[in-house]
Amino acid sequence: MKTPVHIAVSGAAGQIGYSLLFRLIGGGLLGDQPITLSLLEVPQSIGVLDGVAMELHDCASPLLSGVTCHSDPEAAFADADLVFLVGARPRGPGMERRDLLEMNADIFSVQGKALNRSAKRSVKVLAVGNPVNTNALIARCNAPDIPPENFAAMTRLDHNRVVGLVAARCGCNPGDVKHAIVWGNHSTTQYPDLQHATVDGIPVLDGVGRDWYEQEFITAVQQRGAEVIRTMGRSSAGSAANAALGHMRDWVLGTPEGEWTSMAVCSDGSYGIEPGLMFSYPVQVRDGAWRIVQNLELDAFSREHLKATEAELLIERDMVRHLIP
Ligand code: NAD
Ligand code: LMR
Repeated sequence: MKTPVHIAVSGAAGQIGYSLLFRLIGGGLLGDQPITLSLLEVPQSIGVLDGVAMELHDCASPLLSGVTCHSDPEAAFADADLVFLVGARPRGPGMERRDLLEMNADIFSVQGKALNRSAKRSVKVLAVGNPVNTNALIARCNAPDIPPENFAAMTRLDHNRVVGLVAARCGCNPGDVKHAIVWGNHSTTQYPDLQHATVDGIPVLDGVGRDWYEQEFITAVQQRGAEVIRTMGRSSAGSAANAALGHMRDWVLGTPEGEWTSMAVCSDGSYGIEPGLMFSYPVQVRDGAWRIVQNLELDAFSREHLKATEAELLIERDMVRHLIP
């Protein structure tokens, strides 16, 4: 019997949690690997969470070794190997993700401290709750005894949106689209970059044309979250849970040979970005450790977009200075 991997999920009674948990117990993250689940919610949602736990038991999954429900983050994160920080308010129509900073930032300060006290030092922490880059920054800075590289913020949904839109435009399978990149913030300043992307080895820009790329595609990706909210009346959940699984799977098991993905990780100054910001980069993962892909050529258009999204992250960081020790 393999030792179970201990996974903690905050906001587990919410929309994303409800999509994520049932895929976790079906082996959607680590395949044929037993897991234990530690679920965190606010006290007023513990009743709902208990019901979710009942449903998880009722799946009779041979991979589920145990479920516990918590309203105390320190107890929820105790000895966690992998943590999904989902619990946070979502935005509604007409809001920007940054408008959530005031409501959600404290959560990540409290939970960063709790992680520092009780999670394994080797824990991998993926922030999902918005505004995700800055929330991940807050959590990381409040957990000084956990290596900074063990924190990431999710831009995988944006990356998947890029791949999906390109595949639809080119009439190809999403699996044939390689080397897409999302740079920067999970916000309307993000830069979805197709300048290195290929379909079946052919540059995507040769097929889709620079006009479509610059005038339609970039805005479409930047606005996709808002478009989902406008259309559905609430924010994305199934695609977000799918992206969280994809991000964590690649982080644990590695990116496929020769490929990369996009993850917001602690900047080391690569591509001229302020060190310490949680900035989305193209990354490759080997043996559980990510590495920013280096030496990609950036033209003036790309450099301008990187600077714009960096500037927004610097503003967000200034807004939460009081939560960064
Ligand atoms: P939701 O409102 O359905 O669920 C959030 C859950 O978090 C609720 O059950 C709530 O009780 C819980 N919660 C709130 N504060 C908490 C705390 N301090 N500790 C533990 N749990 C807490 O929202 P959702 O649709 O699941 O979205 C969750 C977050 O994810 C939102 O901030 C949303 O904007 C964000 N999101 C991010 C991405 C991304 O790509 N990074 C994609 C989609 C959604
Ligand atoms: C998304 O991109 O779908 C999420 O961040 C939800 C949102 O607020 O757009």
